[in-house]
Amino acid sequence: MRFFQMSPGMSTQYLLNSYPWEKYTTVVDVGGSHGLLSIDLVQRFPHLRCTVQDLPEVIASAPKDVHRVEFQGHDFFTPQPVYGADVYLFRAIFHNWGDKYCVQILRNLIPALKKGARVVVNDHVVPAPGVLGCYKEQSVRGFDSVMKATFNSRERSVEDWRKFIMQTDERFIVRQVIEPEGIQLGILDVEWMG
Ligand SMILES: C[S@@+](CC[C@H](N)C(=O)[O-])C[C@H]1O[C@@H](n2cnc3c(N)ncnc32)[C@H](O)[C@@H]1O
Repeated sequence: MRFFQMSPGMSTQYLLNSYPWEKYTTVVDVGGSHGLLSIDLVQRFPHLRCTVQDLPEVIASAPKDVHRVEFQGHDFFTPQPVYGADVYLFRAIFHNWGDKYCVQILRNLIPALKKGARVVVNDHVVPAPGVLGCYKEQSVRGFDSVMKATFNSRERSVEDWRKFIMQTDERFIVRQVIEPEGIQLGILDVEWMG
C-alpha cells in the first residue's frame, strides 16, 4: 500500500480539492488504515472531525493523539457503530472486493445513516474500452486481471459503480461522479435518501 500511495495519481490532494468539504463536519473514514487521508483532511479543513476505522490490529499501530482524528477498531463486515455522521468515506476499499462483498459492506452502513448523509467512494474508475491509448489501455486492463487473480475482485467503470450502488439499496442516489484529471481514483458522491 505504501508503494501505491507514493504514486502521484494516488495523492490525497485530489479528493481534498475536488469535494465540498466545507459543507460537512463529521467524517468516518472506513478502512482508513493509519489515517493518512483523515489527517490531511483535518489539517486543510479545521472545522472537520474524523473517525478513522480499520481492523483492530491495524489501529493498534496507528498514530495516537492526532487532534480532531479519532481511531477506532471496526470490521466493515459488521454494522457501522458511528451513527449520524455527515460523510462516510471509502477510499480504495471496494476495488479489493467482489460485488457481493461490496454490497454487504455498504449495507452495514444503513442503520447508522441519517437522511441526507453522504457516502463518498474514492476508488478506481476504468474508462470505457477504446478511450485510452493502446499502452494505457493495456495497463488498466492488466490491473483488472491482477485484481481478479489476487482478490477475485475487479476494476469498475462508472456504470459498474452505479449498478453496484443501486443494487445495494435504491435509497442510495449517486449525485455526481467526479473524475479529476491526473488521478487514478474517481469520486462518487452518493446521498442516502432514508
Ligand atoms: C487498500 S487499503 C486502503 C487504505 C486507505 N483507505 C487509503 O486510501 O489509504 C484497504 C484498507 O482496508 C482495511 N480492511 C481490510 N479489511 C477490513 C475489514 N474487514 N474491516 C475494516 N478494514 C478493513 C485494510 O486494513 C486496509 O487498511
